[in-house]
Amino acid sequence: MSAQAHPKLALRPMLPADVPLLAEIFRAGIEELTGEDYDEAQREAWSAEAEDQEQFGARLAGELTLVATRSGAPIGFAALAGNKRIDMLYVHPAAAGQEAGAMLCDALEKLAAARGSKELTVEASDTARGFFERRGFCAQSRNTVSLRGEWLANTTMVKRLEAAPGGAASTRSAP
Ligand SMILES: CC(C)(COP(=O)(O)OP(=O)(O)OC[C@H]1O[C@@H](n2cnc3c(N)ncnc32)[C@H](O)[C@@H]1OP(=O)(O)O)[C@@H](O)C(=O)NCCC(=O)NCCS
Repeated sequence: MSAQAHPKLALRPMLPADVPLLAEIFRAGIEELTGEDYDEAQREAWSAEAEDQEQFGARLAGELTLVATRSGAPIGFAALAGNKRIDMLYVHPAAAGQEAGAMLCDALEKLAAARGSKELTVEASDTARGFFERRGFCAQSRNTVSLRGEWLANTTMVKRLEAAPGGAASTRSAP
């Protein structure tokens, strides 16, 4: 599994002090990884969601947010909303393709199942759709979202979760 392939990759709950770095991972991930699917104006509108760091931090703190680190430094993050929807999943471009995304998604799937959710949804960007397909998410509908006057397409995808052994939540949540 990924932890063996990349021994220095680790996960931990988000801390308030992480917010500026996570906002930068969000911005850089959109800017550098999604250019084949979204034009510059769309990418700017999307990454502006983290411009107000107080608001961005409050959104992350209101969800179950995990941070992926390499040698202690944040390289990606993922946020679970209501135990059943992946609200965010972003990896820094310099660390893309090294299994941080898979590790984060795996953890959210396990947490959602442990908390009794039978399925997990995500509004996947066109860039990330293949990533989620590989993990067993199925496309349900195409959407267009309006952000600061720009229209961005995404796909609602759903994965059935296997019931967690023991049923009830056994993992702690982010602060
Ligand atoms: C999508 C994203 C989170 C993937 O993170 P990552 O750390 O690069 O992905 P991983 O290295 O864990 O990839 C796991 C597997 O999925 C594959 N994969 C990764 N991105 C993929 C993609 N866009 N399409 C198809 N397969 C993909 C990898 O090749 C790897 O396959 P393997 O297990 O056979 O080696 C990252 O590219 C990203 O931040 N993208 C920009 C922001 C974005 O669109 N986020 C999603 C919002 S819903």
